[in-house]
Amino acid sequence: MRFSDEFLTELRSRVDIEELVGRYTEIRHRGSRTPVALCPFHTEKTPSFVIYRENQSYYCFGCGAGGDAITFVKNIERLDYVEAVRYLCERVGMNMPMDPVDDQYNKLRRRCFEANREAAKFFYSRLLSEEGAPAREYLKKRRLTDETVKHFGLGYAPDRWDSLLKYLRSKGYRDDELVSFDLARKTSRGGTIDAFRNRLMFPIIDLRGNVIAFGGRVLDDSKPKYLNTSDTVVYKKSQGVYALNFAKNNNDGRLILCEGYMDVIAMHQAGFTNAVAGLGTAFTQEQISLLSRYCTELTLCFDSDEAGVKATNRALKMLEHAPMKLRVMHLDGGKDPDEIIKTQGKERMDQIIGSAMNDTEFALDRIRKKYDTATEDGKLNYMNEAVEVLAEIGNEIERDLYTSRLASETGIEKQALEAQISKARRARGRKQKQKEFENALEIVREGSDVKSPNPQKRQFRRACAAEEIILASLLKHPDYLRKLKDKLSEDVFVTDYNKRYFRDLSSRIREGRSLDLSVFNETGDNEEMAYLSYLLAKGDSLADSLTECEQCIQTLLSEKTKADAPNVGKMSNDEFRALFRKNKP
Ligand code: UTP
Ligand code: MN
Repeated sequence: MRFSDEFLTELRSRVDIEELVGRYTEIRHRGSRTPVALCPFHTEKTPSFVIYRENQSYYCFGCGAGGDAITFVKNIERLDYVEAVRYLCERVGMNMPMDPVDDQYNKLRRRCFEANREAAKFFYSRLLSEEGAPAREYLKKRRLTDETVKHFGLGYAPDRWDSLLKYLRSKGYRDDELVSFDLARKTSRGGTIDAFRNRLMFPIIDLRGNVIAFGGRVLDDSKPKYLNTSDTVVYKKSQGVYALNFAKNNNDGRLILCEGYMDVIAMHQAGFTNAVAGLGTAFTQEQISLLSRYCTELTLCFDSDEAGVKATNRALKMLEHAPMKLRVMHLDGGKDPDEIIKTQGKERMDQIIGSAMNDTEFALDRIRKKYDTATEDGKLNYMNEAVEVLAEIGNEIERDLYTSRLASETGIEKQALEAQISKARRARGRKQKQKEFENALEIVREGSDVKSPNPQKRQFRRACAAEEIILASLLKHPDYLRKLKDKLSEDVFVTDYNKRYFRDLSSRIREGRSLDLSVFNETGDNEEMAYLSYLLAKGDSLADSLTECEQCIQTLLSEKTKADAPNVGKMSNDEFRALFRKNKP
């Protein structure tokens, strides 16, 4: 969709980026000239996310995320461009201009929502019908009540090739639409068949109550056990969380993450309405950030089998820097929560939830199980590894608590353990420093800044820096283009990436079009927006002047004539250290 430059400029002038960002991350130095914050797009301990009020943009020097208010909303709320514009319009009370293209896309999404809703209704009615008997039988076996079935909108896809197809065709849907919504599939012989057949159906519902996808389980032991809707215009598997639509309103800041649909449903039926699950893929960062908006404590409740323990460890690793507290449930005696509730009752489940271990306890438990602590050797091994775990605890009181526990558990004197832990902490500190140093080196190696989308940056470090200064200056002072017209043309540029930017920028300037960040958003992808913001950020810190631009042009001319650009990537670490020292302020 094309919005006019005037509209976008108006929208941007009404949005206060600082206020917008402040809703997601705490802004430090609020009120100072350049506010900074912990980046909401990656996890960090020191803020590298900078807000530039003058051009209403942001740039993260840690992860390279950058852009304007629209880019920000796009990425943080995971909306597409038009949706992000609409979101901002609503916030500032502006009307969305209508556009036929935009309308088509939204029509398609609406149609997909409607088709899914029709499908869910159809599956539900089939479950209650005569042909749904085997599925009802199965539900009975799994002890799901009618109320639960209704609450989750479970259904049955009949054991026929085209029952849903026929139904939806009669409602006016075309086969090709249904294939693109993944409700139907094309056969190799060119026919169309239902995507789900003879399966118990689980509708997946988003936070606004739309049916966005389905999971379908077989009624016996055949394979695959579950079929899931693949990605469509309204659904991205890696971003969804099952039952969050219910759980988001039923938790006091705590969520329980289970492995599968059935566990979640059994938990809700037993009264644990804060249970959610992923959607049949490995746990993703996108899911973590979604969950972190609805809870401050996440309890992992995976199966107690080997796969479950592996999944727990993987998830804990992913959650290492997540902003919530973590706990891990230990399910012995039953394989998964569904079974525990069935065989031991919900009171037992409640106990298990209550005694869930925090991540330290879980780690200690894992180590304890590795060794036979009845022997001296086993005890020593246990202690050595446990010390490493305790050394990681930042909170002193907490660390002290575990040290006391470990002392009484192993019979080793607390003071001795403390000495060990301090030593481990010092070693960790050194490692950390070393790592920071390496990072700094890496930064010098990369040409003194973060991720660049320019593939030639490494090779032409100097040229690239000069090009960036020119581009940054032009963004800030479009009139330089005219003032430098005898010296500056695209031929001066060494790297193709920046050359392309220059071409685009100069034609915009010549045509008198807006250079406002928001007008780039439409065509620019995330990477490009980030790059533009980076250039703006650079322009901000630059003592940019015509003379400086002229110097940069000179640099480019001399870099161009060099047959071989200096290969910085091949320097030894010592050479870098020297370079690093030289470059230090
Ligand atoms: P489980 O096999 O633990 O499933 O897989 P479950 O939900 O406990 O199902 P029951 O108890 O056997 O009925 C965990 C999750 O992994 C995904 C599903 O999301 C499932 O809920 N999965 C599993 C698939 O997507 N496909 C499969 O074939 C198997
Ligand atoms: Mn199960």
